[in-house]
Amino acid sequence: MCGIIGHIGTGNALETLLTGLENLEYRGYDSAGIAVQNGSGIAVQKRSGKVDELKNSIGDRHIEGNVGIGHTRWSTHGPPTDENAHPHTDDTADVAVVHNGIIENYADLKSWLRERGHEFTSDTDTEVIPHLIQYYLDAGMANEAAFRRAIDELEGSYAVTAMLDGEHVLYAARQGSPLVVGVEDDEFFLASDVPAFLEYTDTVVYLEDGDVAIVDEDGVEFTDLAGESITREPETVEWDPEQAGKGEYDHFMLKEIYEQPTSLAQAIEGRIDPENGRIALEDFPSGTFEGVGNVQLIACGTSYHAALYGSLALNQAGIRATALLANEYSVTAPPVDDETLVIAVTQSGETADTLNALRQATAAGADTLTVTNVVGSTAAREADDTLFIRAGPEIGVAATKTFSSQAVMLTLLAQRIAADTCGEPPADLTSLLPDLSRMPAQLESMLVTDDAARIADRYRDSQSYFFIGRGLGYPVALEGALKFKEITYEHAEGFASGELKHGPLALVTPNTPVFAVFTGDEDEKTLKNAEEAQTRGAPVIAICPDDHRAVEVADRHIAIPATDSELAGLFANVQLQLVSYHAANQLDRPIDKPRNLAKSVTVE
Ligand code: M6R
Repeated sequence: MCGIIGHIGTGNALETLLTGLENLEYRGYDSAGIAVQNGSGIAVQKRSGKVDELKNSIGDRHIEGNVGIGHTRWSTHGPPTDENAHPHTDDTADVAVVHNGIIENYADLKSWLRERGHEFTSDTDTEVIPHLIQYYLDAGMANEAAFRRAIDELEGSYAVTAMLDGEHVLYAARQGSPLVVGVEDDEFFLASDVPAFLEYTDTVVYLEDGDVAIVDEDGVEFTDLAGESITREPETVEWDPEQAGKGEYDHFMLKEIYEQPTSLAQAIEGRIDPENGRIALEDFPSGTFEGVGNVQLIACGTSYHAALYGSLALNQAGIRATALLANEYSVTAPPVDDETLVIAVTQSGETADTLNALRQATAAGADTLTVTNVVGSTAAREADDTLFIRAGPEIGVAATKTFSSQAVMLTLLAQRIAADTCGEPPADLTSLLPDLSRMPAQLESMLVTDDAARIADRYRDSQSYFFIGRGLGYPVALEGALKFKEITYEHAEGFASGELKHGPLALVTPNTPVFAVFTGDEDEKTLKNAEEAQTRGAPVIAICPDDHRAVEVADRHIAIPATDSELAGLFANVQLQLVSYHAANQLDRPIDKPRNLAKSVTVE
């Protein structure tokens, strides 16, 4: 989820590119760069850090030209260094490229190009693109043909914008990552997202998957990858530039909830093979976890709930695993032996409590692994290994899309660990993986329903809100309650459904709606627990598929798609995120920045 900007116009492109990058910083902000046709070649300037650091590094350097491209990066391959920042060029710096997405076959392409004498300077997947274009140029192809041919070789997802020395043309292609052209008289813009250029134009043309756009000073030509002309109609966007970072959404939290089909697709891309029932986690080939006898997962807040989800998935796969609050670890850590793997789960990779626990585990001699969203974060650097969840920047203080991606990655990791230690994956991967690959599309369909908004409205004046679940539904219940209290400031509690009768039932009244999560883990028992609350007057809201028996019993129902029991809770969690969001919105709470809280808690 990086940001792309490109500009061809009458004035100097540099200023437009830098403004565009600042407008896009919410998409990624660990490094930035620009490339401009400078009269005597392509001038490239790039830096790790924020756009301000790029600006400072440009200083008095004379960069002037009316064609250019820029990029703000959210690392997926390689740490946030100057070398890994975009734009990337070929050996001769005649081709400059910016790219969003993931090139799945980059390793094969890189070694193929190396065998033909190409040298690489970065760890990125992107760098193969300018080298491929150059390869086909050297083979005698015309510029446009070389661009198309190189794009045709890419597998994975991409939004690519390229510029070749000596001509005033921008080439763009889209497959799975957004790309949009902005048009204003004789000024043309290319961007991953409209906010990049909204102060210059509100007339836009969206590229669709498989489209190529060729932009010069006279206009834009759209074709398919084979070069056949296609028509794409311009549209007018009606956004206030101030709001544009949130796109059409009122809050980042809502935007991030709605990004989950994309962030999940990105998390699993290239990592599962549903047809053959295989999981391929890039840095963890078969055998990596052979010596693991027990797993401790350490985390805080929402990440702790994801860790709990992961620990249950591990337990169900036959591995001894415990989720532990990182801030309790210094006093309650179970013993570590040479078979212990400690997994730090942290979106930011900077949470002080989690870092301290990770350091304690390292000092005790455990093998360590971090599951995080942030390449180059402290937890990623300090652990022995890292698994990135690739959710893209999360701006809202309330974690949403990162929970889903963490839980999915831990579910896959559990199967990989179990396969290494038990000899074969214990779950039926031929059922789980196809369901997982369907998940982004199912989420997309679920997100257009309004069940959650209606329920939030129906129970808006309640006194307390309870969330219950069993098995993998339990961490989802805890997370549902945390989200609710965090952004509504209303009282909310999550319980294992069987615990309700051991105390909390005393609090149940007609004013305490009970949200019951059904995941397929002994649902009959959860239903019985929900009925115990219902008998005491509490309204019960069942989160389950339409044909579930709980629908007949509950007072209300929020629908989730039918899926594998390892994934059902994640759909329920998204619905509960929406319930919290709509409840908080009705109360006019500052949803993206709840009182007293911070996105990254760097103190103990
Ligand atoms: O960056 P981390 O995942 O380590 O953060 C942990 C918690 O601070 C975080 O999940 C917090 O609970 C969220 N605000 C919850 O929405």
